[in-house]
Amino acid sequence: MGVGWADFRASPDQEVRGFVGLNLLYATLVSHNMDEAAEIVSEHEIRKYDRSNILGDYRRWPALAQEALEREASAVDFSDINHVVLCGMGGSAASCDVVREWLDDVDVVVVKDYHLPKWAGGRDLVIAVTYSGNTEETLSCYSEALKRGMPLVTISSGGTIEVSSRKRGVPHNKVSSGLAPRAAFPLLFYTLVEVLRKMDIVCSRRFEEAKSSAKMLDFYSRRIFPEVPLKENISKQVASFIYQEIPKVYGSERIRCAVERFRRMISENGKWHAMSDVLPELCHNEIVSYIIGNPRLRIILMRTKSDPLEISKRFDIVKEIFLKSQHKVMELMPEGSSLLDFIISYFYFLDVATVYLAIKNRQEPAKTENIDYLKERLGRELNYVSKLSL
Ligand code: F6R
Repeated sequence: MGVGWADFRASPDQEVRGFVGLNLLYATLVSHNMDEAAEIVSEHEIRKYDRSNILGDYRRWPALAQEALEREASAVDFSDINHVVLCGMGGSAASCDVVREWLDDVDVVVVKDYHLPKWAGGRDLVIAVTYSGNTEETLSCYSEALKRGMPLVTISSGGTIEVSSRKRGVPHNKVSSGLAPRAAFPLLFYTLVEVLRKMDIVCSRRFEEAKSSAKMLDFYSRRIFPEVPLKENISKQVASFIYQEIPKVYGSERIRCAVERFRRMISENGKWHAMSDVLPELCHNEIVSYIIGNPRLRIILMRTKSDPLEISKRFDIVKEIFLKSQHKVMELMPEGSSLLDFIISYFYFLDVATVYLAIKNRQEPAKTENIDYLKERLGRELNYVSKLSL
């Protein structure tokens, strides 16, 4: 059973290592009876709870990425850009977060709020991303960008932002409709990449990296769906590991977007609670709590093959501390060769894990009742959008 991790293992009962490789896809299971847990994700249960077939949308991710990469983007003719300001919320913001972390040589700021930064002005590019086209925070930033005369581009599947962009001559990129915004991630992300390429903010080397990252979607699409049995299916293994327990998700600052995405998808798809933190920061505070063992905690370490030595060493030491204090740990190491590959891989197989989690929780993964309720009430009681000049 061992895969060479005995050095770190304080107690052999507590470690679960999920390892995902191009030639190798397995997990060494020590502490769980995964076969029993796997029964919960039967075909019947999937049909019963995944009524709107979000799993089907996730199956389309490789095709959605291609669709976005093949479509010519609408952008602005402006070469002397200072900062790139990406505005979006929730599922739409996730694509912005990935761009910010990936393009570490460009000044990218992500705004998840009603207002643009005070300093943003005429030489800063704003890209407003809202899948529905109707999210008020994003519309508010869009309206401020118009007022400040900033170079502006929009991305949506329709909605108010499309209508306003057409009316005002703002370059608009329309993506296919009919998906949950979080399941539209490849459409939004690779469209953003296309816009930035058109404006020479994404150089050709980076663009090749982006195209190659889309291949990770192909790779995982053959390994994470229900027809693949638990022992070869990392998404099912992750769902089984955290089911009915308290997931704590840790990864490095370099993949913060993937760590946060997983935590958010546990809530949004899985209808469950989760906590997350990033290294190295957690080594300066959160780690102190690992003195008293908590049998409910399930720690997931999101590592990458390109973690610098100072980070991978920290992972090794904190893992030792988790195990010593009697906690259960699962380590993940996705396949790929660039940081973007790792991020895209994590988004894909962990999103799908949260769909399994929802089904295990007897919940419909696509449903977002509380978001819908909030948006409806805000619209009715404040009607913020009507006060914007769109
Ligand atoms: C729903 C989802 C939400 C939305 C968010 C913003 O699937 O993921 O987080 O993304 O409420 O809506 P849009 O993306 O339409 O701007």
